[in-house]
Amino acid sequence: MHAALNHLLGIEPLHPSQITAILDLADSYVDFNRNPLKHTDRLAGLTQINMFFENSTRTQASFELAGKRLGADVMNMAMQASSVKKGETLIDTALTLNAMRPDILVVRHPHSGAVDLLAQKVNCAVLNAGDGRHEHPTQALLDALTIRRAKGRLHRLNIAICGDIAHSRVARSNLILLGKMENRVRLVGPATLMPTGVADLGVEVYHDMAEGLKDADVVMMLRLQKERMDGGFIPSEREYYHRYGLDGEKLAHAKSDAIVMHPGPMNRGIEIDGDIADDINRSVIQEQVEMGVAVRMAAMDLLMQNRTAQTQDTLV
Ligand code: NCD
Repeated sequence: MHAALNHLLGIEPLHPSQITAILDLADSYVDFNRNPLKHTDRLAGLTQINMFFENSTRTQASFELAGKRLGADVMNMAMQASSVKKGETLIDTALTLNAMRPDILVVRHPHSGAVDLLAQKVNCAVLNAGDGRHEHPTQALLDALTIRRAKGRLHRLNIAICGDIAHSRVARSNLILLGKMENRVRLVGPATLMPTGVADLGVEVYHDMAEGLKDADVVMMLRLQKERMDGGFIPSEREYYHRYGLDGEKLAHAKSDAIVMHPGPMNRGIEIDGDIADDINRSVIQEQVEMGVAVRMAAMDLLMQNRTAQTQDTLV
């Protein structure tokens, strides 16, 4: 039996049944979110603090809406304007906020491992909203939910993850999740954008889109993470688009009903052709965003249920 989750720091520690439990609950929140009135008191009285040390549009908005729809009191810390700028360390900032007795901390940080470290110092539930190149668990979960709903299953699918794998926490979390659920994952991209040790990951690696996309059920594109590059990774954006940008010609190598995904923010004309991104028959990019709110509601709901169960255990 696996231990009940206290935090959501990555996909790595999750058991497949825990992944399925989050997705099943998220499915019910998708329906809930489609109602005109979307508010429950499940997390009423609880405090959620969002600490984003890196820019974010969709992830932060998604966590904020998720918390509000569950009835929590949600506070967004403007980290750019915080004491971090005065030299305070991450841990001191976290301890300060922890002393204000939040129940949930949602943290994004540019350094891999920073969120795990922080979780060891506080006594509330911590959710990783992306740490460096390490993990972005709620993104992988929302991608999994999108795939499961579009394809009717989350196993034995051919999934091509394409582009800047080396710098992408989205790729890493997805690779782990999709592997745990027994899919066939391939990585497609230039050798310069493959992570070191890629041969040990147990996945197929391609440097050619036509080969890598052949018979794919899912084509997952990634953003070029320029902020994590220090030059020399790609010859030019034009050349990159020519070889690795998803256009109709390259997509034709995938199955005729293959879905196209992108975590956003996307660079049209660099990783993906704008018309493909907007093609409602192929692209599920907007569904991914919709699933994001539901998955984050499910994850926070389950973490708080676990905490209540544990408190009751100690009282008995
Ligand atoms: C991703 C991230 O921040 O890792 N974006 C997101 O959360 N939707 C991917 C990216 O920035 O390219």
